[in-house]
Amino acid sequence: MSLDALFEAAREAQGHAYAPYSDFKVGAAVQGESGAIYAGCNVENAAYPVSTCAEQAALAVMVAAGERRIKTILVLGDGQQLVTPCGACRQRIREFGAPDTPVHVAGPDGVRSTFTLADLLPCAFGPDNLARTGAA
Ligand code: THU
Repeated sequence: MSLDALFEAAREAQGHAYAPYSDFKVGAAVQGESGAIYAGCNVENAAYPVSTCAEQAALAVMVAAGERRIKTILVLGDGQQLVTPCGACRQRIREFGAPDTPVHVAGPDGVRSTFTLADLLPCAFGPDNLARTGAA
């Protein structure tokens, strides 16, 4: 798997981010189980809470394409600090990922750190919690 391809997809999406309120543009790229890459960016709104995150957008594109499993994900933002996914996006990644799903965090210069989803969201609640036991 080419991390470069994920990075480039995230960078292109970041360039399209709509972030007039925070002025903080984020791009994300998800690689699905098929190997295909899906990108997204943050899209803010004058009604602030209505804004969407880059990871959220990329995952929606993946699902719309018919995929349900994340192989890996990369998030890209500017600044000195690591742009790790927000709490809500960690949960969104959990829905389609696994504890060992790699989450790459990048800056303009490239990948700065790689976590697993379990690093970012330990003891996560997920689809398995709702699995049917047959006891209905
Ligand atoms: N943002 C993301 O898109 N992903 C994250 O994981 C962190 C934050 C966006 C949301 C908002 O548009 C801007 O960055 C500042 O919080």
